[in-house]
Order: sequence, then C-alpha cells, then structure tokens
Amino acid sequence: MKDSFTRRGFIRTAAAGSLALSWLGSGGAPRVFGAEANKPALLGGTPVHKGGWTSWPQWREDWEPEVLKVLRSCRWFRGSAERVAEFEKAYAQLLGAKSCLATASGTTALIVSLHVMDVDAGDEVIVSPYTFIASYNAILNRKALPVFADTDPATLTINPATIESRITERTRALMPVHIFGMPCEMDAINAVARKHGLAVVEDACQAWLAEYHGRKCGTLGDLGCFSFQESKHLPSGEGGAITGMREELVDKCNSFHNCGRAHGTNKGSGSFTRGENYRMTQLQAVILMQQLDKLVRETAVRRANADYLTANLKAIPGITPVRLPENSQAVWHLYPVRYDPAHFHGLSRDKFCRAMGAEGVPCGGIYREQYYDGLLDEAIASRGFKRLWSAQRLKAYRDSFQELKGNKQVCETTVAFTQNLLLADRGNLDHIIEAIRKIQAHSEALAKADA
Ligand SMILES: Cc1ncc(COP(=O)(O)O)c(C=O)c1O
Repeated sequence: MKDSFTRRGFIRTAAAGSLALSWLGSGGAPRVFGAEANKPALLGGTPVHKGGWTSWPQWREDWEPEVLKVLRSCRWFRGSAERVAEFEKAYAQLLGAKSCLATASGTTALIVSLHVMDVDAGDEVIVSPYTFIASYNAILNRKALPVFADTDPATLTINPATIESRITERTRALMPVHIFGMPCEMDAINAVARKHGLAVVEDACQAWLAEYHGRKCGTLGDLGCFSFQESKHLPSGEGGAITGMREELVDKCNSFHNCGRAHGTNKGSGSFTRGENYRMTQLQAVILMQQLDKLVRETAVRRANADYLTANLKAIPGITPVRLPENSQAVWHLYPVRYDPAHFHGLSRDKFCRAMGAEGVPCGGIYREQYYDGLLDEAIASRGFKRLWSAQRLKAYRDSFQELKGNKQVCETTVAFTQNLLLADRGNLDHIIEAIRKIQAHSEALAKADA
C-alpha cells in the first residue's frame, strides 16, 4: 500500500535540507531520515506514516466460484462431502506431516490433543505463560493444572532449562507455544519429555510454516495444533487443525472430535469412545484451500521484511530484536522487540506505543502477566479443582507465579507489530524504523509532555 511519504519522497526531502543522518546497519549505504527533525505526531507534528496498512483478512473475487459451489451444494457438514478431507491432505503435505485433522478452532484442537495424549482430571501440564489465554484454558478444560515454566527474555518462548524443576508425579505433558510464529527450542524440550516420559503437544496456533531444524512446527512433538481464526495468516473466521507424524494418534483425535466414532486405525475396536463435536465445516475448508498458495507466498515476504527490520532495528539503542533458535525460521504472526526506556529518557512503554500509533505505526505490549488476571484464581477456587488437589498444592501453585521473573520482564518490555505491517513495501516498512528513531530523538520532550 502506497502513501505520499514513500522512501523515495523521503530521500528527496532529506537531500534538500540538512537532516539527521542515521546509520541503520544492514550492510547498505548510510540511510537518511528526515522525519526525526519534525515534531512527534503525539505533540502535534506530522505523522511519519499516513494511509494505513494492508487490511486483514483479505478476500479475492476469484475464490468465489469454489465457495459458491459448496454453498449451493447444501453439503456443509463434514460428513457429507470431501472438502474438509481435501484440506487436511493439502495441509499435511504442506507441513510434511503424516496426518492432519481439521477442527472447529485452535482451542478445540488443543483440547482434543490433550485428551488423546491422556491428560486427565488432576494431571498437570507444563506450558509457556507467554501466550494467548486459550493455551491456559485448553488445559483447564481437561480439569488439569497449567503449570508455568519461565519465559526466556531473549526468545520470548519457554525456557527449556526451567521445565524440569516444575515436573511433579502428576505431570503428564509439555505444551510449548511457538508464540508469534517463533519456534521454541524443541530439541531441548523433547529431550526433557523423553527423559520423564511426558507427551509434547505443540501450540502452533500462530506458527503455520514456521521451521525448526528443517522441520515444520506442528510435526516436532507428539501432536501440533493450529488456529485459522480470522486474524491468522491462514484465516477462515474460525477453524483449527491437529497435525502429527503418527497416524494412529491423529485417528484417535478424529474419533474424539467426531462424537467418539471410531476412525481409521482405531476402527477395529468397533465401539464408541468418549467424544465431543469439534468438526470443521465444508465452508471453512474451501475458504482455507483458496489461501494455501497465498500463505506460502506471504510467509516469504514477512520473513524477508522481518529480517530487514531486525538488521535495522538492532542498531537502535534500547530496541532489542528477538533471538531465534539456531537453524530455525519464524513466520512472524507478530514482530516483537524488547523496549528499554532507559534509552528513551525514561519514556514509558505505554507512551512509546501511543507515540508510535500517532506516527501511524500501531504497536502494543500484547500479553500481560495473565496468571494474575483472575482466571486461575477462579479455577483453583472451584469445587472440582479443590477435590483434585490438596490446599497445600494449590497454594504452592499460586505462589509459584512469583518465580516467573523472565516472563514478568517479557510482559513489561515487549513491543510488537502485527503481521500485516510486514506485508508492506520497503518504503512503508522504513516508516516503522523511522518512527522509532523520531520518537527516540524526541523522547525527552515526549517523556515530559502531558500527552
Ligand atoms: C497461541 C494460541 N493458542 C491457542 C489459540 C486458540 O485458537 P482459536 O482462537 O482458534 O481457538 C490461539 C488463537 O489466537 C493462539 O494464538
């Protein structure tokens, strides 16, 4: 999306006046940014970026014939046509997974996977605290306790070194979350799981096509879970999937998600198991099918643009891009950095984000320390949880939140940009860098201002 203040226009402006020179580090020529000299937009100056960003989700007219076919067929339920099965096959192939099951949502994918990995009432699951609340909720839904390992501030993902000390005789599974599409350190996580006989359910709800050591996220643990909710890179309003390398596990997921009907390799049993209805509709599947090529293409664009941002932003004091595991590729559902107000005259993160928003570059702090938000207090005060754990265990559990020092730091210092900004052309992408530098240049005035 173009606007009037493109990079070319900016360089023209810069060449005409005596403007700030900024070395932005990625091995190219020194770059010149003029907007630093302007007043911050929060204090009444001109915004760096005008004209908005790529909207999301997107619709293409040429997708309509296939979607209309499904609508007009009146075969909308999973069992009455092949569209869901076609999507499952295509998604498994894209990921290099042996098998895939489409579900109603990412949350239901997690619930089904935890059930199939035998997470039962009174068990404990070790999970990353830095995630969307649905990761906690899926565990609570099994009447199991989400036990938090700490977050590594350098990666924003679960710190594998903090998992083992959280294991008790009740621990049944690990749930690493590839947050913002950044792969967790899966070798170390799988090693802990193997040592203690634990299942691994990957929350890959934000990590379609992310890669770790040459394999896709969602194929690295026992089962991997994805979300296709509206904001996601592959959206269908609602929707989800479970992937895995063991067909019999995904077949068990199929049974549970389809009212307990025996399926595939477990058909021989002939009887129903416990089950719920978490099926995807044909309409969701056909919408998803239209977007698979688009997902691949846009993933490459987001990656290239994230690399460009990282190369430039790491040169700005007080802005620290995230470290990815060796030999891994993120997909950047959000692009995060850590923000240090000490390099911005004490400008608070909140005000920094407001100043960025005023410059036309929206960003935010994203996840808080959600374990203090009441959800877990409500769960552990419930009749069921009190039956399942001793008062002593529940108190120790509640107290243990204070140990999450890395996560606290991450919650307090992260600033993230949404994925649609990464689909911008380079001229507009430069506005992100430019806006940060402008705010840094004016941070003293911004910190003092009553804005
Ligand atoms: C990390 C994570 N886990 C789980 C979910 C749940 O997915 P859904 O919203 O499709 O139920 C989401 C969705 O945003 C997510 O981001």
